[in-house]
Amino acid sequence: MNLASYPLEALADKVGTPYYLYDGQILHERLAKVAALTEGPALQARYAMKANSSWRVLEAIRGAGLWIDAVSGNEVLRARRAGFAMGSDPAIVMLTVDVFRDNALTAVLEHSILPNVGSPGMIEELRRAGYLGSIGVRVNPGFGHGAVESCDTGGPSSKHGIWPDALELVRAAAHEAKLSIVTLHAHIGTGPELPEFSTNLRRLMEFFAALLPGFPQVHTVNLGGGIPHPYRLDEPAYDLSDFRPLLDEAVARLGRAAGRPIRVEIEPGRFLVAGSAVLVTRVHEVKVTRRNEKGEGHTFVMVDAGFCDLVRPAMYGSYHRMDIVGRGAARAAEPCVVAGPLCESGDVFTRSEQELLEPRMLPRPEPQDLLVLQDAGAYGTVMSSNYLSMGRAPEVWWEGGTARLVSRRERLEDIVARECDEVI
Ligand code: LLP
Repeated sequence: MNLASYPLEALADKVGTPYYLYDGQILHERLAKVAALTEGPALQARYAMKANSSWRVLEAIRGAGLWIDAVSGNEVLRARRAGFAMGSDPAIVMLTVDVFRDNALTAVLEHSILPNVGSPGMIEELRRAGYLGSIGVRVNPGFGHGAVESCDTGGPSSKHGIWPDALELVRAAAHEAKLSIVTLHAHIGTGPELPEFSTNLRRLMEFFAALLPGFPQVHTVNLGGGIPHPYRLDEPAYDLSDFRPLLDEAVARLGRAAGRPIRVEIEPGRFLVAGSAVLVTRVHEVKVTRRNEKGEGHTFVMVDAGFCDLVRPAMYGSYHRMDIVGRGAARAAEPCVVAGPLCESGDVFTRSEQELLEPRMLPRPEPQDLLVLQDAGAYGTVMSSNYLSMGRAPEVWWEGGTARLVSRRERLEDIVARECDEVI
């Protein structure tokens, strides 16, 4: 986001720091791209709402005509609150789960949501719950790659989906339970290199083409999410114009393999939202450690956001661009470690995938500067926590020159609201 376009200090005065700032316009632009990419009756995009389930984001998603991939009962209910139609014909909201927990089965039963099952036993769970209807089957095709090492989404080391040799079992169990398999699904992830995304998708298309003749009721093949987002300035952006021919090819290839029309779905999350929000933090202090027998010294820039607000760097060593706003921007750059307020040494935003400190060249910040973490719209606020009873950061929506608070800072009352003392 071009930070000069927003009154960051004025907003900080109003809502405090840290806060998330969205640019609605950027989200609308991304949505328009995906809507154009999937235009036509044979293609459909679902938004993987795990990436960001803010009501304001969901409203924009619905406005653009995308459908939803939910992962929990509550995600289904949040989609419902945002106005998405329930039901399975068409299945505007699909529930892709590794395990049915809490109200997931209830959401399926009460709202006729299409369950996309990730293990054979889930069919038995559906049968026992009295579900009668259609299902999706998530397959682990044996290949694929996450955006980062720890998000491996296909292959022997991935917990997701059903290994192909268990599909026979699944088909028999579904038949027994009178459930028709209408969707085949796989999510193979982004991959570390751009060309890998297209190569893997093409391979996935062939994989499904081979399966389809054995699934006569399938009318939809879902190729998953994972459209790459460039987090680094020098990273090339994925060219969506490469993608449309691939999708058209999939519609034709899969339709031919099945001998009937097959709808092809994709379900991007990050591509839509990553670039439409930043996390704005305040620098409180800059302190140094000195070289000794244990290693190099560092300059630590202490900011008020931590991994409770944005966990990706601490959890995966993910890279987020950082900017110092205002007066600070013109100072000479030096290597800085940017760290947060949590009582954990790993509460550092400049970390490598190997969990080592990776100092970043930044104009040396000073206390009171704003430091902004870019591309924080995906897996940012949704993965935040109230660890150490820190209140979750508020979210501000900027659109048409107006700022609106779309979720306020979490307060102590919110944090203790669940506490109880009941005999059970
Ligand atoms: N569909 C399924 C079934 C998925 O599991 C995912 C992501 C997506 C779609 C969307 O993938 P996307 O287009 O957003 O890459 N927390 C991690 C990412 C975890 C992704 C989990 N699944 C991160 O912060 O990078």
